Amino acid sequence: MQIPLIDLKAQYASIHDEVDAAMRETMETTSFIGGPQVDAFEAEFARYLGVPFALGVSSGTSGLHLALLAAGITEGDEVVLPAHTFIATSEVVGRLGATVRFCEIDEATFTLDPAALEKAITPRTRAVIPVHLYGHPADFDPIAEVAARRGLRVVEDAAQAHGARYRGNRCGALASLAAFSFYPGKNLGAYGDAGGVTAFDAIEMERMRSLSNHGRLDKHRHREEGFNYRLDALQAAVLRIKLRHLDEWNTQRRQAARWYAERLAAVPGVVLPATAPWAEHVYHLFVVRVSDRDRVFAQLHEGGIGAGIHYPVPLHLQPAYAHLGHRQGDFPVTERVASEVLSLPIYPEITEEQVDRVCATLRESLAG
Ligand SMILES: Cc1ncc(COP(=O)(O)O)c(C=O)c1O
Repeated sequence: MQIPLIDLKAQYASIHDEVDAAMRETMETTSFIGGPQVDAFEAEFARYLGVPFALGVSSGTSGLHLALLAAGITEGDEVVLPAHTFIATSEVVGRLGATVRFCEIDEATFTLDPAALEKAITPRTRAVIPVHLYGHPADFDPIAEVAARRGLRVVEDAAQAHGARYRGNRCGALASLAAFSFYPGKNLGAYGDAGGVTAFDAIEMERMRSLSNHGRLDKHRHREEGFNYRLDALQAAVLRIKLRHLDEWNTQRRQAARWYAERLAAVPGVVLPATAPWAEHVYHLFVVRVSDRDRVFAQLHEGGIGAGIHYPVPLHLQPAYAHLGHRQGDFPVTERVASEVLSLPIYPEITEEQVDRVCATLRESLAG
């Protein structure tokens, strides 16, 4: 029995009647760009999060790009973000002509360390991007406190945290700007590339909406150069169906995490993911730490277990950031975590028997 890292076939099997009907309806109306599905998804997603405005866009990366543009980030500015994240968080900063300032993470939650944030700030710093990595919220309040005191904008990267809560509020509803990815494997995933942005301010939202649609004021007038960053109506139709299941799916993910914790708590050499008291985790990924990770990873694959590594090379040591002049040792927590993290299969439909088998194979792999 092979166990994949995520199983989108199992999820489609549980919703295909709803999804197929919504897709067919969209195709029959031939309203493929904008239109009722996109409008309805934006309203429903904003209501779900408890934010005034949400915009559907073409990917999480384009959402981050729009949010940073709305925050006014431009050439010569600096933006602080964790060294342990996917490159999409940082690449848009560089492409705006701004400079990335990497920051250390908190070892327990794998998210931006608020104590390290203060030290990363310089007179040119304009914004900070906390990332709610693996489905666990970043410690938002102390980050927001530093940002307010030092005059920085906060842009949440909620690409991995659909439905997660920080002190009762949803990730993506904490800062005045946030970006989501709806990449297929995400907790709320489309059937292709898709993303979203949220905003508290109507003017910032209108700017992002216009930028996402060629800088349009109306059909034939363009306020500024923009992009084609629009969300497809077919993707919106899928997302509307899946949003109705999101809370139930996140509950199932938490159940799977409990099964893992029960089986692995007493296994020597395995560090389980922590949940901070103020967090509601949505386990986009179930990430344990093991020493000798690469060998364990290879043995899991030999045993038919689709483990993953998120992410083995910290951003400050990537060739793309060689120009920043970082060295091994600059972010010791990030580097240690990057060498030990191991993502075990997790998805709402995973069964207790499958978790049993993953844990048994992991125990054998640890034994060598
Ligand atoms: C933390 C993080 N930020 C941003 C993104 C970018 O999202 P997308 O792939 O939809 O462009 C991702 C997606 O993998 C992500 O994991």
